Amino acid sequence: MNPLRIAVFASGTGTNFQAIYHAIERNELDAEVVGLITNNPGAGARDFAENNSIETAVINKKIHGEENIDTEILNCLRNWNTELIVLAGYMKMVGDPVIDSYKNRILNIHPALLPSFGGKGMYGMHVHEAVIEHGVKVSGVTVHLVDNEYDTGPIVMQRVVPVYDTDTPEVLQNRILKEEHTIYAEAIKLFAEDKIEINGRQVIVKRKNA
Ligand code: GRF
Repeated sequence: MNPLRIAVFASGTGTNFQAIYHAIERNELDAEVVGLITNNPGAGARDFAENNSIETAVINKKIHGEENIDTEILNCLRNWNTELIVLAGYMKMVGDPVIDSYKNRILNIHPALLPSFGGKGMYGMHVHEAVIEHGVKVSGVTVHLVDNEYDTGPIVMQRVVPVYDTDTPEVLQNRILKEEHTIYAEAIKLFAEDKIEINGRQVIVKRKNA
């Protein structure tokens, strides 16, 4: 099989993007990052891509006008022959035309155990603040497929991370981020090896010879 062609969407630092890139470099994942799309010209993810000779596209309403964003994104994705979209801290809702064109081929990572602590407004530190405020004893990471709403798509993989009484949101965020950096490449690997079967809300990992 040829390496899976993935396009990463990121708005911030891009530590997840970097972790995926390094997993590919270490031959743990048979994939290629064919391009990075960001809405934020100042994103650290963009610097990382440029320093590693990955094509980048800054697409936002200021440059292109809100109504042209989806078309711009789709053009890039098609030019890169994208097979899988990986959202890694992308702070914009992906538009319906993109979701419809890449049905079941868009992944997102969320720093909590969905369906808890997800949805609109639940991003970044807000998630960890809400987790601590609620007093739950475990949080974690969810990798899921993206549908037309926030954080509701079928779950591909989850990992549990303990929450301690002494945790601040920052401390918890770091503990969770560490897990994010391994689980995302593992989830993408399932797609790269064509091991995923989707049955309604259930994402099933195909067994060998199945
Ligand atoms: C991560 O916590 C991820 O779960 C969320 O956005 C954050 C991105 O962090 N979707 P980074 O830019 O990959 O460091």
